[in-house]
Amino acid sequence: MIHMNNAKRYTVTAALPYANGPLHIGHLAGAYLPADIFVRFLRLKGKDVVFICGSDEHGAPITIRAKQEGVSPQEIVDRYHEQMKRSFSKLHISFDIFHRTSAELHHEMAQDFFRDLYEKGVFEEKKTEQYYDEEYQQFLADRYIKGECPHCHNADAYGDQCEKCGNTLNALDLIKPKSVLSGKAPVKKETVHWYLPLNKDEEWLKLWIQQGEYKGKHHHDPKTWKKNVMGQVGSWLSDGLQARAITRDLEWGVDVPAEIPGSANKKLYVWLDAPIGYISATKQLALDGKIDSWEKYWQDEDAHLIHFIGKDNIVFHTIIFPSILNAKGNYNLPVNVPGNEFMNLEGDKISTSKNWAIWAHEIAEAYPDKIDEFRYVLCANIPETKDSEFTWSDFQTRVNSELVAAFGNFVNRIMVLNKKYFDGKVSSCKAYPAIEADALSVVAEAKEQMTKCIEQYKFREALDVLMTVARDGNKFLTNYEPWKRIKTDEEEAQTVLFYCTQIVANLGILTQPFMPQAAEKIFSMLNCKDLKWDDVGRLDLVQSGKELGETKLLFEKIDDDFVSAQLAKLEESKKNTSKSINYKPVKDEIQFEDFSKIDIRIGTITAAEKVEKADRLLALTVDLGFEVRTIVSGIAEHFSPEEVVGKQVQVLVNLAPRKMRGIESQGMILFAEDLEGKLHFVSPPAGMDNGSEVA
Ligand code: MF3
Ligand code: ZN
Repeated sequence: MIHMNNAKRYTVTAALPYANGPLHIGHLAGAYLPADIFVRFLRLKGKDVVFICGSDEHGAPITIRAKQEGVSPQEIVDRYHEQMKRSFSKLHISFDIFHRTSAELHHEMAQDFFRDLYEKGVFEEKKTEQYYDEEYQQFLADRYIKGECPHCHNADAYGDQCEKCGNTLNALDLIKPKSVLSGKAPVKKETVHWYLPLNKDEEWLKLWIQQGEYKGKHHHDPKTWKKNVMGQVGSWLSDGLQARAITRDLEWGVDVPAEIPGSANKKLYVWLDAPIGYISATKQLALDGKIDSWEKYWQDEDAHLIHFIGKDNIVFHTIIFPSILNAKGNYNLPVNVPGNEFMNLEGDKISTSKNWAIWAHEIAEAYPDKIDEFRYVLCANIPETKDSEFTWSDFQTRVNSELVAAFGNFVNRIMVLNKKYFDGKVSSCKAYPAIEADALSVVAEAKEQMTKCIEQYKFREALDVLMTVARDGNKFLTNYEPWKRIKTDEEEAQTVLFYCTQIVANLGILTQPFMPQAAEKIFSMLNCKDLKWDDVGRLDLVQSGKELGETKLLFEKIDDDFVSAQLAKLEESKKNTSKSINYKPVKDEIQFEDFSKIDIRIGTITAAEKVEKADRLLALTVDLGFEVRTIVSGIAEHFSPEEVVGKQVQVLVNLAPRKMRGIESQGMILFAEDLEGKLHFVSPPAGMDNGSEVA
């Protein structure tokens, strides 16, 4: 049976974030921070580990963002790749590599996977109808299409997934589908795609996930998988899996290899290429000379693969990617997929489009000296078993009463006492068995307890253990009062302080995975380095007589002004929400001569009535000054006849007449359509004479 401890090496991945916008604290708490804590812990244990991430630069989120901003997809991914990379580094998320899926190396590897599976005959080729946006002349899949979820009736489900109930969807099953590009109802059109027949994988997937057995061997203990993850996977497996299209009709993405018949204009489905990004990133790491081979992290049986993700990524990491790895052969499957739930902010869902978020890059840039404080509070609120909540007042309380008052204060007192009574050196230690036993009890259990928590991905509980050590250290100090004892028994006082100093060193090690800056400060104050996880529990980590370093404050208090400023900033940003805009593309270029043919005049609507048996039409009488005309207009769903009578409007007067429902329409009235598709009058300034020209 494989245990955490007898893995030879670890391949730890954190979900590749889409390079379509900035990261927020929900991303950090959900995936990147827990992954970083886990990896730092493994490194402190001296394990061979690679920590892999990068940006996910394909898929609809990227191209939609590019369209909204009127720039190229490449410009978008370049911008956010750099921003995310920088933020992660400033937040001390210690990836060995932060790669990107637009890299050539990645395209090649993803194509190799596709080619290999294609040649093995894994895929099914199917002609189906798919939704198509006629205005944009584009097929709509995944995030290009929205509608009502057929399962939970969330009105905002995407074509590939409902974020509310977590179900993966088929765009054709959406109720009231709408194109994200034009906002209009799509039409259906035939197209050919390659499918991954997940239905054929059901049996071994069940065996692997639910029994922990793969290819006839024990693979992992299913009891170590988180309940929320198992719950989701279990319901997919019991609902039955379906073949899933793994190519798309798109312009941006990894090309289906050119030699494959029918590959023209086809791209790999982003969820096929992105997870392969973990592997191509590892390959890049090897090319950079940072590891000697990438294969041993992916193919060596003793390498443990662990994917840190948020709950919306569970199906891709437990079913789809494993199915691809299995089809490819000789790749490891993950031994665990610790997926977290979501983090809310001040009582509301974090939302990028509503601008309700605390942004990772803002924390990273604005508070480089408070990174540990953020890491601490985010860790204390990791949504491990259910959705959690970040509030600024909780941030303040935790920093002030836990980090500053308990942890920081303890460390500071030890430094001050050593400096005051022992000349800035570590005091000496004589045999006081009772004191030694008390000191030992502060740190004795910590290593084992924290190891157990971290190996079970219970980072909040691990953090509690850390804080218990700090509090117990404080109690030990207060109990033995060396500042009093020094007057009666100096040796005893020295001994107490010696042990306190050892507790501080222990705290330094235990802190390192969670708050690396604070740990570094502790080690520099104690003038020691290279302590390992396995040193925790020892009371001889710093020698008597050793010169101590400069005293540094570990944490700073958060005052009320800071909190109110943050809250005000949040409220303000909510007001400035830039709604996600679907601008229509600009039409083909015309010449001035084309334009000059158009004759637009001012007129007043003098009468209006509904056209029989035509829900959308109003028949209008329009006074143009030089003559009165009848115009049939498709506005009945927007305005009642009463609403339009008396309005002055702009009229295209030289449009060829057209019969509509038996009525001749002699012109066209101009309206402005807002971004939600609502019509508005484009009324001329007050006092214009009918018949005046608009040009
Ligand atoms: N970009 C995806 C998201 O943010 C995650 C991709 S993870 C990977 O939801 F496995 F595909 F890399
Ligand atoms: Zn749903």
